[in-house]
Amino acid sequence: MPSPSFDGLKAAIAGAASLAELERVEQELTSRKHGALTLALKRLGELPPEERAKQGKELNAVKQEFTRLLEQRKGELQGAAMGSLAETDMIDVSLSLPERERGHLHLIPEFIRQVEEVFGRMGFEVAEGPEVETEENNFNLLNVPATHPARDAQDTFWIAEESMPPGGKYVLRTHTSPVQVRYMKARKPPLRIICPGKVYRKDADATHSPMFHQFEGLMVGKDVNLANMKAVMVAAIRELISPKAEFRFRTAFFPFVEPGLEVDMAWEGEEGRSREGKWLEIVGCGMVHPNVLKNCGIDPKEWQGFAFGFGVERMLMIKHQIPDIRLLYNGDLRFLRLF
Ligand code: PHE
Repeated sequence: MPSPSFDGLKAAIAGAASLAELERVEQELTSRKHGALTLALKRLGELPPEERAKQGKELNAVKQEFTRLLEQRKGELQGAAMGSLAETDMIDVSLSLPERERGHLHLIPEFIRQVEEVFGRMGFEVAEGPEVETEENNFNLLNVPATHPARDAQDTFWIAEESMPPGGKYVLRTHTSPVQVRYMKARKPPLRIICPGKVYRKDADATHSPMFHQFEGLMVGKDVNLANMKAVMVAAIRELISPKAEFRFRTAFFPFVEPGLEVDMAWEGEEGRSREGKWLEIVGCGMVHPNVLKNCGIDPKEWQGFAFGFGVERMLMIKHQIPDIRLLYNGDLRFLRLF
């Protein structure tokens, strides 16, 4: 079909920059009044029959080609539209948002949970006692009489007598050992308990805090001995602090054990400045004194046991190389976030 306008329209289709523009080109071709194709088809009717058949065939081919070109360009423009939509309006499900901050347990309760877990596996049951304790349980029944110098060493907080029931004196417990007493009075051996909790002493410097945490261990049985104690303690230290933990046992005196020992651990601490030197004492221990067993209604001829009292903060200081115990309490998020 010799119509030069068709070539121009083909170029217009290829160059249409939007669907709206493409539609205008389509109108130029097929609008009922002025469409180039429409007019060409109308003109067919004026031709002689043979001519009409021939040109009709050609026009049909042209029409089909236009249909194809229009479809193709339309597809291209639609694809492009989708692409630009993806960049601006669509939701990118792979987008990663800044992580939301979550709280976590403080080092101390977290560690106490581990303690309960580790000793739990060795058959120790968790026991608890009150923080305001009787003088009886905190001292007397533990073989620490009123005149004993060990009372001074512990720098006790006494509770004002007016505020407590009459008939006895009360203290903020200076150690978790009174839980041993409570438990032995209440239960029959054999016993295996672990008692974590807060204790209080008038003490404050880089390695001492007026409130700190201990966990007491007690095992009473027919033939429990010092070797058992050492095995249990070493297993726990290795698991709670490090398999390579460096420590030493040395003899020590506590009125409620006989013999008594202390375990020190190597500590980097504040070199040279700490009153502790290279070794930090983390636990007192020993075989439960026969007087203590007797005081709690257990026959020392039949039963014996070991006890230990670990200092939680000190274990953490060694484990994480914390130079000052007070960092554990002052709530500085820069410190707390390290763990
Ligand atoms: N109660 C002692 C203290 O606080 C530790 C200890 C516990 C020692 C059990 C021996 C046996 O220092």
